[in-house]
Amino acid sequence: MRNFVSVEQFTNEEIMTLIQRALAFQKGEASFKTDAKIVNMFFESSTRTKHSFEMAEHLVGANFFNFDVGSSSVNKGETLYDSVLTMQALGMDIAVIRHQDSNYMDQLVNLNIQIINGGSGSGQHPSQSLLDMMTIYKEFGYFEDLKVAIIGDINHSRVAMSNMYLLNQLGAEVLFAGPNDYFERNFEQYGTLMSVDQAVQEADVVMMLRVQLERHADHGASFTKDRYHQEYGLTRERYHLMKDHAIIMHPAPVNRDVELADELVECSKSRIVAQMTNGVYARMAILEWVIAGQVKEEY
Ligand code: CP
Repeated sequence: MRNFVSVEQFTNEEIMTLIQRALAFQKGEASFKTDAKIVNMFFESSTRTKHSFEMAEHLVGANFFNFDVGSSSVNKGETLYDSVLTMQALGMDIAVIRHQDSNYMDQLVNLNIQIINGGSGSGQHPSQSLLDMMTIYKEFGYFEDLKVAIIGDINHSRVAMSNMYLLNQLGAEVLFAGPNDYFERNFEQYGTLMSVDQAVQEADVVMMLRVQLERHADHGASFTKDRYHQEYGLTRERYHLMKDHAIIMHPAPVNRDVELADELVECSKSRIVAQMTNGVYARMAILEWVIAGQVKEEY
């Protein structure tokens, strides 16, 4: 029984196979159908991940259900374990779960339902990481020695955690920049900390991160939006430092005029909307991997 919970469970070959499979789905060169019953359980807010899993589930013909946390018995004190146990008892095969606990899946190991991690606290966001790798691969066709700058609120970002690990494993060179308070020394095993200007100048991929105020003890009191933008954001001025071929990524939602200037969100170098589209196909590949038990090599 396969669970998709962390990028750390995959070899480079497996990641590349998942990317190739996602690209084949996107090009209409492959299809996968299932009658699996899938429940989407989002205990934290989501627009992209929740609805792109729904779209992926629709495209593979799955029967999918949305667990509404707000009207559920979570309000009566039901634990995560009991909510998921109930979904298992009702006959669900797979639960796509987003939860504020970075290690929530540890509570579910004895259950007989497959888990897809839709984002775990500040821990992991493996489906976002797969769509990010797909986006980079579509652009460049390789990872080896590609310079990817991860800029911003790094230590609160599950996207950063998954991406720094996977980019490093795939042979990319990771550059970090952002406020010192949002950086932990142990990230240096994956890349090099530098100024925002230098990172933007050197990078092939400028990956901006959302400021995750909901995870800040001071709820952002240490910066005004404008000060953050000027010191750590992709301003119009910094945009002109980027290499001609470099691209902008952001997992979104974007705080416009904070992480990057409003007009850069949909500019020609931006792949932010493409990331959202790619997410549907990356999640189809994830569903196939979880359901079929093996990724088909031929397509
Ligand atoms: N990137 C991402 O996870 O977006 P959502 O929070 O909208 O799902």
